[in-house]
Amino acid sequence: MVNIDRKVALTGIFLKNDETISMLLTLMARVWILPSRRLISIIGTGKLGSAVALQVASRELGDLRLVDIIQGLPQGEALDLGQMAAEQGADVDIVGSNDYKDIAGSDLVVVVGGLGRKPGMTRLDLQEKNEDIIRGICDKIVEYAPKTLILMVTNPLDVMTYLAWKVTGFEPSRVFGQSGMLDTMRFKYFIAKALRVSTSSIQAVVIGEHGDSMVPLPRFSTVNGVPITELLSPAQVAEAIERTRKIAAEVIALKGATIYAPAHGITRMVESVIKDKKMVLCLTAHLNGEYGVKDIYLDVPAVLGARGVERVIELKLNDEERAAFLKSVEVVKTAVGHLKTVKVS
Ligand code: 2OP
Repeated sequence: MVNIDRKVALTGIFLKNDETISMLLTLMARVWILPSRRLISIIGTGKLGSAVALQVASRELGDLRLVDIIQGLPQGEALDLGQMAAEQGADVDIVGSNDYKDIAGSDLVVVVGGLGRKPGMTRLDLQEKNEDIIRGICDKIVEYAPKTLILMVTNPLDVMTYLAWKVTGFEPSRVFGQSGMLDTMRFKYFIAKALRVSTSSIQAVVIGEHGDSMVPLPRFSTVNGVPITELLSPAQVAEAIERTRKIAAEVIALKGATIYAPAHGITRMVESVIKDKKMVLCLTAHLNGEYGVKDIYLDVPAVLGARGVERVIELKLNDEERAAFLKSVEVVKTAVGHLKTVKVS
């Protein structure tokens, strides 16, 4: 921050010719008129957290605070990423820390911390251990960044997002999760492969749990407005759905973790928040009567902007789609019921 006395002194020195006046006006515009850069914190700077940081920094979405419990890791990532940004000319300030106080002033905290899925594990297998980790992280967020939005990534996603909402006591619109974004990217990928068209021409919709009961919706997934049910055979649609459900386990079995796909999905959400783009994305949102269910977090299409989840979009589901969605509701409610310290209403 430039202090006011210094600004007045500078004004006196520089008001001598047109060039310096113009320089001074530019400086004043930067300091006083242009909004300051937004602050994004990432909790957990392993492979996924650092891949998110890379994308967020490259796209100059804001300054970054990277926090991890491993001594040296976030500091090292911050230095490495800062030098990457120098090559790009990206104006971002990146700080690594083992202390949560450095997230103070965050506009958005992305929570990647916790254990990841290992080959052969389901997302729900992680619940017990990650519950303790997420509770601890959320307590720190409340302490140091009480005004922030929270983007949850830790699995089991729907349950951990619910937990984060309960622990922080934040308005539900300020706490949301990323999985629907990732599942729609995957559905889009398999539709594009089956049709041999560009993924950029496809809009895909996946709702429900980020898990085995997820509900890809072919009737609402289109290629330039044409539902894929009119372009693919039922067998091809069924295969795209099945592969969308299973692909994370396949990648984890092959390379140990999913990194680039979730990192890009998360970054798109960060962009929608930071630039207040109000993108309609499938994401893990709180439902309070929408789709006929309450007190639960699940993937649905929603408007995401600077204030978080601004509106849930309700699709008119047919009986089959609704039954599949209710199966997801049951799975997630059961898992939430197993949380050790949170009461489900
Ligand atoms: C994924 O779907 C593991 O939930 C993570 O890639």
